[in-house]
Order: sequence, then C-alpha cells, then structure tokens
Amino acid sequence: MGMFAKARPEDAARVLPNHIGVIMDGNGRWAKKRGLPRRMGHSKGAKTFKEICRYCNKIGIKYLTAYAFSTENWKRPQEEVDAIMELLKEYLQDAHNYKDENIKTRFIGDRSALSDELVRLMEDAERESAGATGMTLNIAINYGGRDEIVRAARSLAEQVKNGRLQPGDIDEAMLSSQMYTAGQDDPDLIIRPSGEYRTSNFLLWQSAYAEYIFMDILWPDFTPRQLERALAEYAGRNRRFGGV
Ligand code: FPP
Repeated sequence: MGMFAKARPEDAARVLPNHIGVIMDGNGRWAKKRGLPRRMGHSKGAKTFKEICRYCNKIGIKYLTAYAFSTENWKRPQEEVDAIMELLKEYLQDAHNYKDENIKTRFIGDRSALSDELVRLMEDAERESAGATGMTLNIAINYGGRDEIVRAARSLAEQVKNGRLQPGDIDEAMLSSQMYTAGQDDPDLIIRPSGEYRTSNFLLWQSAYAEYIFMDILWPDFTPRQLERALAEYAGRNRRFGGV
C-alpha cells in the first residue's frame, strides 16, 4: 500500500473515527468523462471499495459502512442494475480470497428484493467471516434510511400489539436496537465524494452526530490518500470542538 504502509509517530495520537460511512458516488460521471459505459465506472468503483476496505482495516477503523445500492437505485436502467448486482456477486464469490484480512462482513438493507443466489452468497460471506476480529464491514444493498426506520417502527408496533411492550417503554436505545446496525457504534464520520452535498437516505437514524465531509473527487479516483485527507480534517474538527 505504498506510502501509507508504515506506522507514523503521529498515528498513535491522532483521533480516529470508530465508524466511517462512505457514499460511493460518481462512478457514472467517471465513466462518462472517459467515454466508457457506466458499468465500467462501477467496476472501477468496486476496486476502489476493496482498496479502501483493506486500508481502513489496516489503520484500525472498527466499522466501515459502504453504500453500494439504495432503495432508489432500482429506477436506473435494468442493464446498470444488473451490472452492479453482478459486481457484488463477483466480489462475494471471491470472498474467500480476502479471508486473511480478518474483516467481518455484514449486509444492511432489505434482502427480499434480491436474487436468491445473491442472498445466499451474502449469507455465506456473513457466516464465514462471523469470527473475524478485525474491522466490521457493513455493505448497504437495497438500503434506505427511511425504509429502515419504517421497519423498526413496524416491529415495535407489533410488539405493542402483542402486549409485550408498552408505548411508553420505547426509547432511543430501543429504536437503535431495531436498526440493521444494532450493537454497533454510530458513524462518527460520513464521507461523500463526487461534489454532491446530500445525505441521500444513508444511515438517517445513526448519523445524528456524525461529521460530514464532502469531497470534490469521483469515487473511482478515491484513494487511501484522500481518505487520509478526510481523516485529518475529522481529527481537526474534533480537536476544536470535542471535549474529553
Ligand atoms: C453511485 O454512483 C454508485 C452506485 C449507485 C453504485 C455503487 C456500487 C459500487 C461501487 C460497486 C459495488 C460493488 C461492491 C463490490 C461493493 P453514480 O452511478 O450515481 O455516479 P454518478 O452520480 O456519477 O452517475
């Protein structure tokens, strides 16, 4: 990993986020700029994704959540949806190659609309990495923050209906425990490249206190160096505003 491979003296002191969220945006524009089909942008984006996962794990990030496919992305041309699903499939079929990275892989989102084959590969990857002690990687597929909150509300309403819960017992911790990320730290840093300034339904509940960093670079061009820039800005914000 070139220049970031060595531990630097300042690493020990720096303020690292526990949980990073990343919106992998700009794949289509990256391809368009080069006169390539959009799927080539997603393909390069998938490479970037793997590199960033490896890097985050190496520097000791505990949780990384990557937005791969939103509940709104079904509106794209079928060909593009198929290409993204195919990339996910290929990644999961390769998952055994990443075993020595010791990353615990989880999927967040509504699986009911995904192909049986993809769901089976997702379950295999979760099962096979369940004992990993390194970073936890959440891959968001058919994920929507509002959809997640609706599901949580339904599940709690069901428990109230069955008499197992009183409405007054519902609190923030209980809502959190109904989210796909139950038991994990909330994201403290969310990075959105590609020059768009939106949160796009990503981790709505969990991002209440997250720092957002918007960057003017397309996801396929994103490298560990850009991640380091975001981490430096995050550390700077924390030094100014964070109390002990
Ligand atoms: C947004 O860019 C990106 C997506 C909708 C797909 C992201 C998916 C990947 C990076 C591949 C996933 C694969 C793995 C292995 C996790 P955009 O298409 O909206 O870009 P644009 O705004 O420039 O059109």
